[in-house]
Amino acid sequence: MGYVDLHSHVLPALDDGSPDMATTMAMLQGLNEVGFEQVLATPHQKAAQFLPAISSIHRAHVEARGAVTEAGIGLTLGVAAENFWDDVFFSRMRDMSFPRYNEGRAFLFEIPTSEIPVRFEDTLFEFSTRGYLPVMAHPERYTPFWKDLDRLERIGRSCALVVDLAALAGYHGFRLGRLAKRLVADGIAHAVASDVHTPSDIRQAAEGIGWIRKRLGEEVVTRLLLENPRCILSGELPDRQR
Ligand SMILES: [Fe+2]
Repeated sequence: MGYVDLHSHVLPALDDGSPDMATTMAMLQGLNEVGFEQVLATPHQKAAQFLPAISSIHRAHVEARGAVTEAGIGLTLGVAAENFWDDVFFSRMRDMSFPRYNEGRAFLFEIPTSEIPVRFEDTLFEFSTRGYLPVMAHPERYTPFWKDLDRLERIGRSCALVVDLAALAGYHGFRLGRLAKRLVADGIAHAVASDVHTPSDIRQAAEGIGWIRKRLGEEVVTRLLLENPRCILSGELPDRQR
């Protein structure tokens, strides 16, 4: 227990996640019941699709955090974003003004599913030399890695890899499920997260946790949902146990 969720769309009316505060509260209550005591809200920052103003993200975060306290839900709500690797991200890269986990050194990003960005590894390396920790959302989703797991493993030496729990439970299709399981079982992934968009996604996340517990044991659950996420939030890349 005391799990940390590094990837969630729980803040209301910002992206394709929670539509309103009542749903936000239902999602946070549900995550808490599954064992999460720290949830990081990561609304999309994706040009031409979901690009809520950073001020709106902070306003929604403060409101939701207040509602959590008022409702007596036993979790801490932090904030970041799921930064898409696009022109907006690049323009913010110069002064590192894109949202990061609790404004610290680690930040969540995603890339296009079928194409690895040019100079990808070089850019990740530049982040690490500047003292920042990139955190890749759902590494199982990017098709170029499907036949080149070695490349993903190498990327994981300077970038945290956070697999979606619903993929582990098989809800994102057979291939993603198979790869997600392999990344977790082989110790390539550093952490797992819910990536919840709706209250019903929480059951899928719980099933993903159940799969880890059954196949790999409680120790791995604790590592991937508590110890390593805490390490990532502190800006450090966790050791991978392989
Ligand atoms: Fe997401």
